[in-house]
Amino acid sequence: MGVGLPFSPGLENIIATTTRISTIDVENHRILIRGYDLIELAQKATFEAAIYLLLYGRLPSPEEVAALKQELVRYMHVPRPVYELLSRMPGSMHPMDVVRVGISVLAAYEENLEDPSVEANLKKGLRLIAATPLIVGNGYRLLKGLPALDPLEKEGISYNLLRLLKPSPPEPLEARIFEQTMILYIEHELAASTFTARVVASTLSDIYNSVCAAISALKGPLHGRANEKVMAMLLEIGDASRAEEYIDRLLSRKERVMGFGHRVYKRGLDPRALFAKNLLRQLAENKGKLQWYELAERVELLMKQKRDLYPNVDFFTGPLYYLMGIEMNQYTPIFVAARMAGWVAHVIEQQSENRIYRPRALYQGPPYTPLTQ
Ligand code: SDX
Repeated sequence: MGVGLPFSPGLENIIATTTRISTIDVENHRILIRGYDLIELAQKATFEAAIYLLLYGRLPSPEEVAALKQELVRYMHVPRPVYELLSRMPGSMHPMDVVRVGISVLAAYEENLEDPSVEANLKKGLRLIAATPLIVGNGYRLLKGLPALDPLEKEGISYNLLRLLKPSPPEPLEARIFEQTMILYIEHELAASTFTARVVASTLSDIYNSVCAAISALKGPLHGRANEKVMAMLLEIGDASRAEEYIDRLLSRKERVMGFGHRVYKRGLDPRALFAKNLLRQLAENKGKLQWYELAERVELLMKQKRDLYPNVDFFTGPLYYLMGIEMNQYTPIFVAARMAGWVAHVIEQQSENRIYRPRALYQGPPYTPLTQ
């Protein structure tokens, strides 16, 4: 029945588990990743160093980062049959579903798929962290009828992903900004997709099924898909002078404006959004496309004025990826490629001190009714 037990719709403000991985410190406008500020990591670290911190709980030495990169390069070489299967996917398939298929098949190449030990999960996790960006990037190329490309072994994960998603080689500024968005996306405490991964992991299912469930959760427009929807909206608005009329129309229809609001930040600013906004100004200036920054800034002001709502990270990553020449339906797969490290860390933590998730539901159906002939 569940009567008398604590109930909060959407588990709002409910602690579902303990973790040593990350926390959102709303009061101090900080997201801590193993005690380090995510924004400082985005400013100063590489994506690989952030991966190391997430998985091993401390920052690596230069030698340790080099060793990690070597290991990741090995796993960036995705078994060819995975690409052969993806090349047969119908072109109408959303890239998020293509990625989920690719990772499901990749599981078949693991010897200890069902082993929930930290050691086995770390090894499987490294393959997932390294292979996912290549499955995202080459999945995109295969859907367009282009051949899959081998990884550039001298480059890191973020460069390899960006190079596959762009028609032309990445420029240095956009490559660094892209890597910084990957760090912003890498981990964010118990988001819906991360919680999903932990629920599946808590049944002692394998890490591949846990992250495939997380990908399914992230595909929702209320979660990861928002970055794609933000850019679609900005393209529809077209110009800052038309923003108010467009936003008024959405709000009058009680529709959600994508890229705004957040369950935890509530009516506060997502620190990642503030950092990503500065990246957008830098890139827009560099590309002579300031009108996209001005349009985003106008929508941000309108939402503050009309609903006291602030942008989340997705509001600025959408236009950033657009300025890099990336197709919109790839924005959420990029989020997958970045958040894979966070999901892996959570699955490892869940399965190392496990208790299966099994909440109750508050019953509101009909009372007991005897079953008569
Ligand atoms: C991500 O959890 C994470 O950490 C996620 C994430 C991560 O890194 O993993 O940060 C990434 O998913 C960011 C969120 C991306 N989604 C969007 O941008 C979609 C648009 N946002 C909303 O749908 C909404 O803000 C959520 C889903 C993000 C949060 O939903 P809540 O906490 O359930 O908020 P709510 O529905 O209770 O809204 C509170 C009020 C409501 O108004 P009232 O009914 O009280 O009058 O705010 C309004 C809502 O109508 N509101 C919005 C709005 N978001 C909230 N109104 C218009 N547009 C919006 N975007």
